[in-house]
Amino acid sequence: MTGKIRVERVAKEYGPIKALDSVTLDAEPGRMVALLGMNGSGKTTLLRILAGLEEPSRGEILYESNRITPQQLRKVSTLVFQKTVMFNTNVFSNVSFGLRIWGFANGEVKRRVYEALGTVRLAGFEKRRARQLSGGEQQRVSLARAFALDPEVLLLDESTANLDPANAMIVEDVIRGARERGGCIIILATHNLHQARRLSDKIVHIHYGRVLASASPQDFFTNPSNETTRKFISGELQF
Ligand SMILES: Nc1ncnc2c1ncn2[C@@H]1O[C@H](COP(=O)(O)OP(=O)(O)OP(=O)(O)O)[C@@H](O)[C@H]1O
Ligand SMILES: [Mg+2]
Repeated sequence: MTGKIRVERVAKEYGPIKALDSVTLDAEPGRMVALLGMNGSGKTTLLRILAGLEEPSRGEILYESNRITPQQLRKVSTLVFQKTVMFNTNVFSNVSFGLRIWGFANGEVKRRVYEALGTVRLAGFEKRRARQLSGGEQQRVSLARAFALDPEVLLLDESTANLDPANAMIVEDVIRGARERGGCIIILATHNLHQARRLSDKIVHIHYGRVLASASPQDFFTNPSNETTRKFISGELQF
């Protein structure tokens, strides 16, 4: 069973740089949250905190209303990175990497890897060298690696950036399927407004590390709650 996640007044500073400033947001199982915001607004930082890879400077992450540590977060959530990282080995080993770390038995590793590769439409790619695959294929291997772990919280950092429209659609279908099947929480950072509208249940606009707006896609686009969000949507926002 998956629990609700709440980000509560989370701030993150890197020396003098304020990456996040009192961010609060809720995410529920079976729902998808899209994070939108300009370059450098803090989306990746928030995802890294939710993945347990960074500790907030202030504030906390709650899981079913209880505080959860970065170490515990690493057990429930999986982040698919903005930049694809392929190990210099075959696709099977790339996808099974996390499962081996968690100590799954060989039979279960195999079952999950084949299932995940099928899900991302890369069945038959097991023996291919991961680094020789196209960018879009590598992106799907990254997703398979995350799906194989069957995480409660799936964090996606611009998973369709650099993909051609057909590949982007495949990845969107795969993400939609994961939500419908698994009932996990999905939080996705994207620069693609149409994608956010198509996929998500809630859109959160982050601007200079702060949440400026949080609304259903319908409300977010048709009735933005503030002028900065309106300008962001229409592409008028300047740095
Ligand atoms: N490890 C770090 N050390 C110093 N500054 C950092 C570090 N990580 C992020 N930052 C800074 O924090 C801010 C937020 O960065 P972040 O990567 O979260 O933005 P983003 O919204 O993901 O941007 P993009 O859309 O370009 O991916 C930026 O100003 C960035 O330079
Ligand atoms: Mg980023």
